[in-house]
Amino acid sequence: MKIYRAHDYNDMSRKAANIISAQIIIKPNCVLGLATGSTPLGIYAQLVEWYKKDDLDFSRVKTFNLDEYVGLPEDNPQSYHYFMNENLFSKVNIERNNVHVPEGTNEDIEGECLSYERAIDALGGIDMQLLGLGPNGHIGFNEPGNCFTRKTHIVDLSESTIEANKRFFEDASMVPRQAITMGIGTIMKARKILMVVDGAKKAEVLMKALTGEVTPEVPASILQLHPDFTLVADDEALKYM
Ligand code: F6R
Repeated sequence: MKIYRAHDYNDMSRKAANIISAQIIIKPNCVLGLATGSTPLGIYAQLVEWYKKDDLDFSRVKTFNLDEYVGLPEDNPQSYHYFMNENLFSKVNIERNNVHVPEGTNEDIEGECLSYERAIDALGGIDMQLLGLGPNGHIGFNEPGNCFTRKTHIVDLSESTIEANKRFFEDASMVPRQAITMGIGTIMKARKILMVVDGAKKAEVLMKALTGEVTPEVPASILQLHPDFTLVADDEALKYM
C-alpha cells in the first residue's frame, strides 16, 4: 500500500489527477474505473484543465463507472451517468462508445449486471480503478454486511448511505433505494486501485479500513489485500494514521 499525504482537498485532487494522467500517458488506450460523489470532483476538474492545455488525450481511453442508481435514466440530473457527463465526459475528447455506466433503467437488471461484468472482461479488465470511501466504509455501493459480493449486482442502499447522499436530492425520500454496483471482486480485479479521501469526518473509518481487521463489515478493508493499492488523502482524513 502506498499512501500520499496531501495538505488539503486541492492538493489531494492534484496528486490523484497526476496519478491518473500518468496512467493515460503510459497506456493511451487504458481502461479506467471511475467514481462519482464529491471527492473526485477536483480530480475531474484538474483532468479537464490538462486536457484543455493539450496535455492529455482521452480519445482512446475507455471507462467503467462503479455504480448507478436503479430507476434513474441518463438524463436525470441525479443519475451518476449525468454527473459523469457534466463533470468529465462532455468536457474531454472521450468517445461516447468507450464510456460505460450501468444502465439503471434496464428492465432486466440481472442481465444488465451480467453484461456489465462481461463488458469489463471483454476489454481486458480495468487498469486503474478510482474509489472514494463511504462514511460507513463502503466502496462503490458495496455496503457493510456479512459477506463480500464478488460481481456486479443490485444492492439495497443502507440508511446511512441514503442519509449521506440526500444532499444531492430534494429530500431523503427522493433518494433511490437500490443501485447497481460493481462487486468487491470486480473492484479487486483492477490492476491498480487509487482511493481518494478527504476531511476529518472520514478519518475514523479510514483508519479502521486500512489498519483494522479485513471484514465485510468494513468493505474498504479488503483493499489491504490488493497488490497495487494507492491512497491519496488529506491531513484531516489521515489524522489517526
Ligand atoms: C460513488 C461511489 C461511492 C462514493 C462514496 C464517497 O460512485 O461509489 O462509494 O465514492 O460514497 O462519496 P463522497 O465522495 O461523496 O464522500
